[in-house]
Amino acid sequence: MPQTPGPIPTVRYREATSADVPAMAGCRAADPQSGPADPRMAAYLDGRHHPQQALAARIAFVALVGDAVAGYIAGHATTRYGYAGEVQYLYVAPAYRRHGVAGHLLRLVAHWFQTQGIRRVCVNADVESAGAVAFYTAHGASPLNQYWYRWDDIGVILAGKRG
Ligand SMILES: CC(C)(COP(=O)(O)OP(=O)(O)OC[C@H]1O[C@@H](n2cnc3c(N)ncnc32)[C@H](O)[C@@H]1OP(=O)(O)O)[C@@H](O)C(=O)NCCC(=O)NCCS
Repeated sequence: MPQTPGPIPTVRYREATSADVPAMAGCRAADPQSGPADPRMAAYLDGRHHPQQALAARIAFVALVGDAVAGYIAGHATTRYGYAGEVQYLYVAPAYRRHGVAGHLLRLVAHWFQTQGIRRVCVNADVESAGAVAFYTAHGASPLNQYWYRWDDIGVILAGKRG
């Protein structure tokens, strides 16, 4: 039987910097299934590591419960697959899943893309993750190829359409 998620404490959201990376990486500690964080995350946020075709403009946000990081997301401008934006590093710690935390993080990144004039956005969905493809499709993304999903207008997320 599917588990009904219980209430979670208030979640706050704010922009992240490389100073947050140890706490971001630490929130994966209780989740051996997902493995460690990308060791290049701090360099990415500082503009010293660039995923393929990434451009300089980028952003990250953390979800916080008290002082602890419950989840995070990043996004950057790109030319990958002819798309102008790419969602990067989305992760929510198991204790906080199915409460809309990832949805809120995705809306923050979607809003940032809009401020950059970026509509067409792609994401590499971890097909090994139980929730990744379901999460992106629930938020209006459609498949680009076996591993990638895309929005032709990331604004659908802010318009409140999920699918
Ligand atoms: C995928 C992930 C980010 C989802 O985070 P979350 O905070 O639980 O997501 P939300 O609560 O915002 O989910 C919104 C919707 O997405 C879908 N969804 C999310 N996780 C799902 C799952 N495990 N199975 C089926 N649908 C799922 C549902 O439609 C859900 O709405 P509902 O809870 O009302 O049914 C999280 O499970 C995670 O971090 N997983 C490991 C890393 C990962 O896969 N990252 C993403 C891509 S690489």
